[in-house]
Amino acid sequence: MMKPIIKIGACILLAFSFGAQVYAADGGNPKKGKHLYKKQCKSCHSKGDTAGELTPMSKTMSQWDRYFKRLKHKGDQEAFNALSEKDLKDIQQFLYDHAADSDQPQTCG
Ligand code: HEC
Repeated sequence: MMKPIIKIGACILLAFSFGAQVYAADGGNPKKGKHLYKKQCKSCHSKGDTAGELTPMSKTMSQWDRYFKRLKHKGDQEAFNALSEKDLKDIQQFLYDHAADSDQPQTCG
């Protein structure tokens, strides 16, 4: 009588661990990215700043990907150099997930 229940349990566990792996392979952590974006980017990129307001919706998903591939920051390269590859990946993920043509466009961090 117990056997079918154990089998279902194992299946659910397997599905969960598989899901986690897929997520990790995707790279960035958008939650951390949002936090980093607020801390590292908004200081210069808020409304009224000379650098110009920058939000996830400022670009499309492919534009963000292209931007983070080149990583040429017109403003101040130091702002990018100070971040680890992982941090930049998290920021990229956040901006990408809420880009202008994404499922959940977002105007502010
Ligand atoms: C020290 C101030 C400063 C910080 C910090 C900063 N930026 Fe910038 N950023 C600028 C300036 C200045 C420009 C140039 C604006 C121009 O010339 O149009 C710029 C330009 C950009 C552009 C180009 C805008 C476009 O549409 O092509 C992007 C994208 C950008 N920054 C992203 C970021 C991100 C992401 C971060 C956080 C990791 C960040 N910036 C942090 C000052 C800053």
